[in-house]
Amino acid sequence: MNILLVGSGGREHALAWKIAQSPLLTRLVCAPGSPGMAQAGEIRAVAVTDVAGQVALAREIAADLVVVGPEAALEAGLADALAEIGIPCFGASAGAAQLETSKAFMKAFAARHGLPTAAFGVFEDAAAAKAFLTGFAAPYVIKADGLAAGKGVVIAADLAEAEGAIDACLDGRFGAAGARVVIEEFMPGEEVSLFALADGRTSLLFGAAQDHKRAFDGDVGPNTGGMGAYAPAPALTAGLEARARETLITPTAAGLTAEGLPYRGVLYAGLMLTPDGPRLVEYNARFGDPECQVLMLRLESDVVPYLLAAATGALSDVPAPVWRDEAVICVVLAANGYPDAPERGSVIRLPDGDPGEGVVIFHAGTARRDDGALIAAGGRVLNVCARAPTLAEARRRAYAAVDRIDWPEGFHRRDIGWRALR
Ligand code: AMP
Ligand code: GLY
Repeated sequence: MNILLVGSGGREHALAWKIAQSPLLTRLVCAPGSPGMAQAGEIRAVAVTDVAGQVALAREIAADLVVVGPEAALEAGLADALAEIGIPCFGASAGAAQLETSKAFMKAFAARHGLPTAAFGVFEDAAAAKAFLTGFAAPYVIKADGLAAGKGVVIAADLAEAEGAIDACLDGRFGAAGARVVIEEFMPGEEVSLFALADGRTSLLFGAAQDHKRAFDGDVGPNTGGMGAYAPAPALTAGLEARARETLITPTAAGLTAEGLPYRGVLYAGLMLTPDGPRLVEYNARFGDPECQVLMLRLESDVVPYLLAAATGALSDVPAPVWRDEAVICVVLAANGYPDAPERGSVIRLPDGDPGEGVVIFHAGTARRDDGALIAAGGRVLNVCARAPTLAEARRRAYAAVDRIDWPEGFHRRDIGWRALR
């Protein structure tokens, strides 16, 4: 098979690494790709949101499947454009991807289908939003409605902070994404990322992981896209997973199809495991990043038949995926200043040779300078992942590999996995 993989982050490098191991693969092209993805396939400089360019590339390489990593390509309509010319696409249509790209759409959908989630209100007017706040107790949850790369959410400890967050959002801090503000009930509990594949007809659970969203050790500091992840997720027991499937995944996939928006791709449910059971924090129309990295290391099965089945409506023909009986951890190395203002351009020196037993390093935001040096080119820059019989050993291996990377301009958390190891 010829496969076009769209994206350039750590999630896409992990997908490329796993797809490259498939005996079904003839040719893998990554666009725009990264220096890390260049080790797994060919790189072509086409931007994620350049729909016409990606479609032309898919045609040129006679792609049998296009795998879309980031939500921005879905929002731009890449899956819709590929559907028009009959190329199978692992990735939701722009309409179905609204589950992620519009929190207001997601919340209204959840209300229509009785999905367990937080009470909420959506506002364009600051005074109305502030009045709505008084119906809740602290802490307050304030979100920009549109895509803000995981940074559009403020959990405010008191009313003054909450009101400030509403003003900042509506004053344009997140651009068009903040034209509307969503106010939500705070849900207490532990968070888990649950993944399911959907093909417009049925859905299939596809692993779970936990990540660390805050920038610094002890889960403090600003929200980020994720500073580390691990799987399996011990907090998600088999019983809770079955309940999440029954109350969220199945009705969501069926509800979208019933509304004329059949979902083909991966549905990522951000769950809060509350005393009342799993409740939905958010849906994403893509794999989590860095959750995808740990899922790909833990997946024993060939990933390609699953991606293809979801894209072509054939999920009922594939068996449940097989996971290794091992633990996997991912430590994110970010550029100083992330998430607000990451410094770009600093030189990263990776050690030569084998990174260590069970260790795989993915590139999340790197580039090659003209002289060949590897440099930081994003907020999250490297993902150091390790697999081992236990999570404690996986963590030891990962940090041993992190400590061999020479990059003074980066930072990382030293406590990834602490909830599972405590
Ligand atoms: P979101 O971008 O909607 O996933 O929100 C980012 C993070 O904010 C989540 O991963 C949670 O840690 C937190 N969060 C969002 N909404 C809520 C809520 N209603 N209750 C508690 N925590 C929340
Ligand atoms: N790691 C969280 C996300 O991908 O949104």
